[in-house]
Amino acid sequence: QLPIVLTGVSSGIGARTAQVLAERGVPLIGVDRNPSASFSGTFVQADLSTQAGIDAVAAAVAEAAPQGIAGLANIAGVPGTAPWRTVLSVNVFGVRGLVRALAPLMGEGAAVVNLASNVGVQWRTVKDRCAQFALAEDQEAALDSVAADGEITGESYLFSKQCVRFLTEHLAAELLQRHIRVNSVSPGPVATPILEDFKQDHGRDKVEGAGALVGRFGEPDDIALVIDFLLRPESAWVNGSDIRVDGGLAAYRGSVFA
Ligand code: NAI
Repeated sequence: QLPIVLTGVSSGIGARTAQVLAERGVPLIGVDRNPSASFSGTFVQADLSTQAGIDAVAAAVAEAAPQGIAGLANIAGVPGTAPWRTVLSVNVFGVRGLVRALAPLMGEGAAVVNLASNVGVQWRTVKDRCAQFALAEDQEAALDSVAADGEITGESYLFSKQCVRFLTEHLAAELLQRHIRVNSVSPGPVATPILEDFKQDHGRDKVEGAGALVGRFGEPDDIALVIDFLLRPESAWVNGSDIRVDGGLAAYRGSVFA
């Protein structure tokens, strides 16, 4: 059985997804900038915000999985409380970079899952900006090009997740003929450490109110089980799609923190 690469395994949704996959016997290669207390598998400590970090992951994966990999879940992410360059680097270029770097190690039937967010549901309204930004060859030049755009730098998390939705469709089309699937999952607010940052970023009342509206916050399990499904061959006909997992929040009012 070929391994699956997961990022963000040292916390929250990534840590729980690693457990779910390990329980069904999938060999894992985990990536995070922080060490993990619980992860069992090959662990690669790397910073996904830079091309050097992505190159280091690609080299480590090629060594640990000489026969190739069965899939990749891009779960690592940073909230809007981080500097905007970091947010866009990790959430957009980390995803694009890792898919590009690891796709050569994937064969027919492999699956990629990207973590978007239900704040990004209106992504088609900024599709052209996402295309221009997320497909730019030079990461630093792309970041410089939006530095004066307050709509992007002031809402870097929102824009990053809109770009993840864009990239998911784009990469699904790019990899279709190699029979590699690419889907995304868009959670609503889930009880993990990042939720505290969302409260600082969007206001405590709005985030608490979103949880209260649907009865509770999401749990890592709510998301991990959907990621697991999208990585399995049983979901073979699901491709280029996003699955929203937010208790109905976006359906009810268009966006989580509206
Ligand atoms: P978390 O904060 O618990 O875990 C994120 C992980 O990503 C951490 O282990 C962190 O070390 C890692 N990471 C961050 N920057 C990194 C970098 N530069 N290089 C390598 N690893 C890095 O957050 P959670 O909740 O598990 O989030 C997982 C994903 O789900 C993220 O992409 C997040 O944006 C997304 N999401 C989470 C929601 C929530 O309410 N928890 C809602 C919507 C989306």
